Amino acid sequence: MSTVNARLRDLGTPPWEAQQIALHPELNRAHVRFINLGKTYDGTVHALQDIDLAIQHGEVFGIIGRSGAGKSSLIRTINRLERPSSGRVLIDQVDIGDFDEDRLVALRRRIGMIFQHFNLMSAKTVWQNVELPLKVAGVPKAQRQQKVRELLQLVGLQNKHQTYPAQLSGGQKQRVGIARALVHDPQILLCDEATSALDPQTTQSILGLLREINQRLGLTIVLITHEMAVIREICHRVVVLEHGRIVEQGPVWEVFGNPRHAVSKTLLAPLQHGLPEELQGRLQPTPSGADAAVVLRLQFTGSSEDEPDLGALIGALDGRVRLLQGGVERIQGHALGQLLLAVSGSSLDAEALRARALRWAQQVEVLGYVV
Ligand SMILES: Nc1ncnc2c1ncn2[C@@H]1O[C@H](COP(=O)(O)OP(=O)(O)OP(=O)(O)O)[C@@H](O)[C@H]1O
Ligand SMILES: [Mg+2]
Repeated sequence: MSTVNARLRDLGTPPWEAQQIALHPELNRAHVRFINLGKTYDGTVHALQDIDLAIQHGEVFGIIGRSGAGKSSLIRTINRLERPSSGRVLIDQVDIGDFDEDRLVALRRRIGMIFQHFNLMSAKTVWQNVELPLKVAGVPKAQRQQKVRELLQLVGLQNKHQTYPAQLSGGQKQRVGIARALVHDPQILLCDEATSALDPQTTQSILGLLREINQRLGLTIVLITHEMAVIREICHRVVVLEHGRIVEQGPVWEVFGNPRHAVSKTLLAPLQHGLPEELQGRLQPTPSGADAAVVLRLQFTGSSEDEPDLGALIGALDGRVRLLQGGVERIQGHALGQLLLAVSGSSLDAEALRARALRWAQQVEVLGYVV
């Protein structure tokens, strides 16, 4: 508690101690905390309901969900661009609900935000775009210059300071957006679809920059994306929203390895390798002859300590084992993925093969038989 308050004091913000709210010790460490949050538009659109969530210091926290699920509404309550209809938002245990204008200005300086369409001023140069919020805040010229130089260096645009946004690529524009979001040394960076307008390669470079900002500057990053690969790439934890409610949350490897809610499964489906059509066409529900092979699907959800031991697995299946399709990928040090195997000439029947394979995989299915 004292370090948090010390840091807030460093930022020259008003005395916060009086606002401290008694919480469970776990939650006391949360950087952003939503308590029973609700948001209703026009008295009828329930954009958010019963949101209880804690985001920790230094986390890269992802928010996913279908269009209209309430993602932007949620992230915008963190800097009060959106006022909740019910419930509370705490930043470092301080309830921001009754902040007056002055305190909101101070709050928003501690929380940077970047957007899908960059929101740059077209008549101003890169330098002027980054400098503007410092000017507005009354920061003296020498300090402004040093800060802008430092930030343009950080985002790799030191040679573009006199360029206008129209002459920049999408990735470069977002770098300006990031530099501008960091001018007041914020502790939190909000990203609403910040890479959605970018091609895959540029997305990678922006994600690299965000990761660097998270690791080097220790910023907490809250990001919304419809690109699941972005979540997989840089997030530590993820929450899934549907109709304004949380339907699933957890470490990325866990949610991606074993999505439980139908919406999460749908959102993550593009990352899963389905059964190829050609193989699907050859699959039969019952063995058609002595040489028919049993097709097994093994799923690795990352929850096991050990990586799958292929030699031991194949030995246990006691037959000829062919790899039809599959692979594993690593997320946060966990091996996730699936293997499609065709097993023939085994002394074991399909059910016994399934039971054996379960020693190595977290889920095993018998898909059918192929000749
Ligand atoms: N200013 C507003 N006035 C009225 N309704 C709104 C307003 N902003 C959002 N909504 C509604 O609230 C719900 C949640 O919207 P929100 O923008 O938070 O969704 P989202 O998950 O960010 O969607 P998307 O992925 O399309 O950006 C939607 O039904 C939307 O139409
Ligand atoms: Mg949105």
